[in-house]
Amino acid sequence: MGIKKIGVLTSGGDGSGMNAAIRSVVRYATHQKLGVVGIMRGYQGLIDDEVIELTHRSVSGIISKGGTILKTARCPEFLKDEGKERAVKTIKKHNIDALVIIGGNGSYQGAHALFTKHGVACVCLPGTIDNDIGATDATIGSDTAVNTALEAIDKIRDTCTSMERIFVVEVMGRDCGFIAIQVAIGGGAENVLIPEKKFDIKEIAENITEGNIRGKISWIIIVAEGAARADDIANKITELTNLETRVAVLGHVQRGGIPTAKDRILATRLGAAAVDLLLKGQFGKAVGVLNDEINAVSLDVAFKKKELKVDNLCQLIKILT
Ligand code: ADP
Ligand code: F6P
Repeated sequence: MGIKKIGVLTSGGDGSGMNAAIRSVVRYATHQKLGVVGIMRGYQGLIDDEVIELTHRSVSGIISKGGTILKTARCPEFLKDEGKERAVKTIKKHNIDALVIIGGNGSYQGAHALFTKHGVACVCLPGTIDNDIGATDATIGSDTAVNTALEAIDKIRDTCTSMERIFVVEVMGRDCGFIAIQVAIGGGAENVLIPEKKFDIKEIAENITEGNIRGKISWIIIVAEGAARADDIANKITELTNLETRVAVLGHVQRGGIPTAKDRILATRLGAAAVDLLLKGQFGKAVGVLNDEINAVSLDVAFKKKELKVDNLCQLIKILT
């Protein structure tokens, strides 16, 4: 029996471009004569039976909007068997044959559990600013987040240079230094601290002091939130160098805003590819783009943390400082 109706949901931390993905799923699926419903607030909406009908028209004008029209949530209840059973009840009640789930690592694990333990046909799209999902070069929202953070860092550089200060800028990335590395390279930062690599604060402080003696007047240290808190780093640097150090925590600005062209195009390609996979009966898969080609792997392969290759980039930052 083929698929007649699919459900789409966004889950976990949002990212710009999720709306473009929803639009693509809905329009590509209706083009393939499938019925489409949206589930509000991720897995919470499956548990609470918050299901809405989606048509070609429902997704008009959203391709350029940040956030997600379906809302998103973190849902601790779904971790328990009882939560998943209630979700399955909603899926059956609405005759949903398959789900397209747009989210990060956690959402992928939820989909894997639905597929393997409850036989729910699922395909996932990578929607997270962290770009830490396997088998895809990029995730929806990561390019926008990097560009947003970079714009802020450029502005910080202006005041940092003018007032001859040291700045510690904290960017998002609880377990992953992707954004930090990207903006450190793109913003010409002097140091980058990421969860994947040990750092030596004393060495950084010595470099700052030596630089100061040479007449280097500004210094930007990017820190991923998962590596350390910016305040702690700034206090330590002031203690070790006796130089004024300021802090900027960029926070959730990185998650919103108009999606970049790259995120919209990625989201649009992946949305259609997800529907294609479901039509081919390829369930329990994660879809991504590798070397510009659509790539599908098993969900459990995709949610293993992607290795962030940073050594060359860190070396480059050091050389160019
Ligand atoms: P993200 O998808 O952005 O990584 P989370 O880690 O918060 O965000 O995961 C989103 C939701 O996915 C969680 O709130 C939870 O409902 C579900 N989830 C996460 N991990 C698991 C798991 N191991 N098993 C089942 N569901 C999970
Ligand atoms: O979605 C990923 C992410 O933005 C991480 O980089 C960050 O640590 C986390 O989500 C923040 O989550 P919340 O908005 O729930 O505090």
